[in-house]
Amino acid sequence: MTHRVAVLAGDGVGPEVVAEARRAVDALDVAIEWTDLPWGSAYWHEHGRMMPEDALEIVRAHEAILMGAVGDPSVPDHVSLWGLVLDLRQRLDLWANVRPARLLEGIPCPLAGRRPSDVDMLFVRENTEGEYAGVGGRAHRTLPDEVAIEVSVFTRTGVERVLRFAFEHAETRRGLVTSATKSNASRFGYVLWDEIAEEVAADHSGVRYERVLVDALAARMVRAPDSLDVVVASNLFADILTDLAAAIQGGMGMAASANLAPGADVPGLFEPVHGSAPDIAGQGVANPAGAVWSASLMLDALGEPEAAATLMAALEHVCRDGPRTRDVGGSATTREVGDAVAARLA
Ligand code: NAD
Ligand code: IPM
Ligand code: MN
Repeated sequence: MTHRVAVLAGDGVGPEVVAEARRAVDALDVAIEWTDLPWGSAYWHEHGRMMPEDALEIVRAHEAILMGAVGDPSVPDHVSLWGLVLDLRQRLDLWANVRPARLLEGIPCPLAGRRPSDVDMLFVRENTEGEYAGVGGRAHRTLPDEVAIEVSVFTRTGVERVLRFAFEHAETRRGLVTSATKSNASRFGYVLWDEIAEEVAADHSGVRYERVLVDALAARMVRAPDSLDVVVASNLFADILTDLAAAIQGGMGMAASANLAPGADVPGLFEPVHGSAPDIAGQGVANPAGAVWSASLMLDALGEPEAAATLMAALEHVCRDGPRTRDVGGSATTREVGDAVAARLA
C-alpha cells in the first residue's frame, strides 16, 4: 500500500532538514507518494496568504503531513504562524502534540553528569486551545489607552481528552504522569485542568499522578530529569517546557513532535520542535535529527512500526558514531548527517 504524504518544507532551515528526513524515509522499504506543498512566507509574498483557500481539502487528501518550519523575518510571526501551522492544528483538530524528549547516546548533554538513561521524558501538549486559543482583540489602536486582550480557553472536552491520552501513554511507560499547572495564580482555567486531572487519575489506578506548578517543574527538569516520565501540560506551558527539554536533549535540532487527532481520520502533522532558525538558514549546517525523528513518529502513525523503528535505530546509530552537526559537538553538514542516516538504511 502506498502512503500519500504532504510535504510542507516551509521557510529557513525547514527545507534543509525536511530534505534529509524525506531521503531517509525513501531509503526504507515503504511506499510513499510525496506531494510538495509550496506554502510558507514566499507564498505569502506572492499570494497575500500563507496557504491557499482550499488548503484543508488538499491536506485532508493525504495520510500525513511532514513539515519543516515556518517563519521569516519579512513576515510578522503572528501572521505566518496563524496563517499556517496554528491554523492547521486547530482546523484539523490535532489536539495532542506528542514530544518525546530523550537524550540519545553520543549527544552532549548540557547538564553535568547526565547520561542518556537519565533523560527519557514524553511531553503531551494540549494543542488546540488554552493560551493559544486565538481569542481576543485590540482596541483604541495607537491611542494612549490602547488595549489588547488575550483570552485563554479551557474546555472540559479539550482538557479531558488530552489528560486521558497522557495517562494511557504512561500505562505503556514508567507509569508516572506529571501535570503542569499554575492554579495558584490563575484561578479558573488551571483549576478546571487540575480537577479533571484528579478525575482522570482516579480512572487509572496503575498510574502515579502528581500535580506540579509549572515554574517548579521547569527547575525540576534541570535538577532531576530522571524523576519525570510523562508530562502533560497546556499549550503554552508545554511549548516552553519542550524548548527546555530540547536543550536537555542536546539542542533544538534534536527534538521531534507529532501533532495528532487520536481516533479521527485526519492526517497527523509531523515536525521538528525547532523553528526556521533564520540565523543559520542557507548555510547547510542545521541538525536534521529532529526532522528525521519526526519522520519516524510519522511512520508509526501510518501503521509502519517496523520502518519507524528501523529509521530511529539508524538515527541513534549516527548520533552515537557520527557524523554530527556542530550544534551537537560535530562539524558535519546537514547533508552529511542525512547521507549517513540513508547509508545505514541502504
Ligand atoms: P528557532 O527554533 O528557529 O531557533 C532557536 C535557536 O535554535 C537558534 O539559535 C537556531 O539556530 C537553533 N536551531 C533551531 N533549529 C536548529 C537545527 N535544526 N539545528 C541547529 N540549530 C537549530 O526559534 P526562533 O529563533 O525563536 O524562531 C525563528 C522563527 O521560527 C520565528 O519566525 C518563529 O516564529 C518560527 N518558529 C516556527 C516553528 C514552527 O514552524 N513549528 C516553531 C518555532 C518557531
Ligand atoms: C512549536 C512552535 C509553535 C508553537 C509556534 C511557531 C507557533 O513554537 O511548535 O513549539 O508555539 O506551537
Ligand atoms: Mn515552541
